[in-house]
Amino acid sequence: MARTLAIIKPDGVLRGLMGEVIKRLEVNNLKIIAMKMLHMTRDQAEGFYAVHQERPFFESLTGFMSSGPVVVMVLEGKNAISLYRDLMGATDYREAAEGTIRADFATDIEKNVVHGSDSPETAAFEIGYFFNRFEIPA
Ligand code: CMP
Repeated sequence: MARTLAIIKPDGVLRGLMGEVIKRLEVNNLKIIAMKMLHMTRDQAEGFYAVHQERPFFESLTGFMSSGPVVVMVLEGKNAISLYRDLMGATDYREAAEGTIRADFATDIEKNVVHGSDSPETAAFEIGYFFNRFEIPA
């Protein structure tokens, strides 16, 4: 069993896509073991995406991610990290495979509806960024 962090980004929440994203997780055997809605400050978004701080899109990305509420979830399942990444599709929706969340709903490389951890190390950092040990099953 593996765990990963999933985020429904501000564009996904604003456009009423929460139910659609959650349905796709559940039908694909990704179990939601923790979930909450929150509105990040700019500082919190900068901390979350610190790995991208030298990238040209960092300011825009952190501004967008702090522009409205997001839903953060811990997903658990067999190969959860790669399975969820397959369901999301490529970061750039124009390259995302047919039937993926981003191919179906993203409108922009930044407004790409969802985020997911890209490795076990990233997942551990990202889960710990939003959830304390009382909020996720041992
Ligand atoms: P995410 O999976 O959340 O990780 C970093 C985010 O930066 C990415 O999704 C995109 O929303 C955003 N982003 C904006 N521009 C780019 C870019 N040129 N390349 C990669 N990610 C980008």
